Amino acid sequence: MIEDMLRTPSAVRDAEKYTAHNYHPLPVVISSAEGAWLTDVDGKRYLDFLAGYSALNFGHRHPQLIAAAHAQLDRLTLTSRAFIHDQFADFCRELAELCGKDLVLPMNTGAEAVETGIKVARKWGYQVKGVPAGQANIVVAEGNFHGRTTTIVSFSTDEDARADFGPYTPGFTVVPYGDLDALTAAIDENTVAVLLEPIQGEQGVVVPPEGYLPGVRQVCTDRDVLFIADEIQSGLGRTGKTFACDHEGVVPDMYLLGKALGGGIIPVSAVAANADVLGVLKPGQHGSTFGGNPLACAVAIEVVRLLATGEFQRRSAELGERLRTGLEGLVGKGLVGVRVRGLWAGLDIDPALMSGREACERLAARGVLAKDTHGSTIRLAPPLVITEEEIDLAVATLAEVLAG
Ligand SMILES: Cc1ncc(COP(=O)(O)O)c(C=O)c1O
Repeated sequence: MIEDMLRTPSAVRDAEKYTAHNYHPLPVVISSAEGAWLTDVDGKRYLDFLAGYSALNFGHRHPQLIAAAHAQLDRLTLTSRAFIHDQFADFCRELAELCGKDLVLPMNTGAEAVETGIKVARKWGYQVKGVPAGQANIVVAEGNFHGRTTTIVSFSTDEDARADFGPYTPGFTVVPYGDLDALTAAIDENTVAVLLEPIQGEQGVVVPPEGYLPGVRQVCTDRDVLFIADEIQSGLGRTGKTFACDHEGVVPDMYLLGKALGGGIIPVSAVAANADVLGVLKPGQHGSTFGGNPLACAVAIEVVRLLATGEFQRRSAELGERLRTGLEGLVGKGLVGVRVRGLWAGLDIDPALMSGREACERLAARGVLAKDTHGSTIRLAPPLVITEEEIDLAVATLAEVLAG
């Protein structure tokens, strides 16, 4: 009877009926949110432990970001890049400064930032490095996740992401992640770039062995190859530093950014690099109607300012230690592995107990939202505004779920 009065079941049914099934969402229907909390159409509250795959690093509806969006909506929303608008220069300058790079190229989604990085690296290879026409190759890692375009899935090693989407874009060499010798051996005179996630998020928050990223940096420098760090999920405070590369003092030639850059409000992505790299692009060679639009820039400027305070990186580092302690306490009690960097965690559940999907369904029933990735692995990525008490609540809820 009470079931009949709930709005969730019919909303779930309609969503399934009228959309392509390219996702398998948890059966929750959210209607509002604030900070780290979501409320569904029936008034049930959930603690958000996914944060839009890190697109909501500053929480839902952060007041400073919402105020910037409202103010911009009332003045100017879109010009296209045919004209310059008054938010553009500030966004590019402040983001370039945050990245320690000369230039920024704004796009919208993460996949577009990756595509931009690939195009820039190839052009740099032909025009600066002197690679023969059509011969450029890029070294990537097994288990990568860089997005969903036809070129990007061409070098995915996930069959679900790749199968039946060919013919595939050539020019990529896949090596095992974390193996510096294999990466070094794959580089030849026509290699223009190494493209890596400094931590593989989609793969389950896989942290490479210490020394790997500095090793990649060194070999790229030695062999005149661009190091492109895809920090779309790992960057902008998620791991306790501005960039995941910062943990080992590594500075890539190109940062690919997205997700949190849009403040959880609007898609904003960007490539940041020095002028000798991004300067290879000339008018007409790349672009996007919406990339760098006034609304996006107005929000992203405030994102960069929030990050420039260092507060979110600090919170992520400190609260991440609490999350680590809590999760490590569950190893042997349902978890068989835990990897934590800042407020980002990959948990391997004992596959004999339940799948990651089942665990997430049970967590959701108890008011905590997270998302499985592969098999029995779950990724946790709460908003960086989460409190100690909320972390303790999520860990206790997970303990209950694992205890059955
Ligand atoms: C590391 C990484 N790169 C690229 C992307 C693609 O971003 P988008 O979904 O905005 O295209 C993602 C998305 O999950 C990602 O995690």
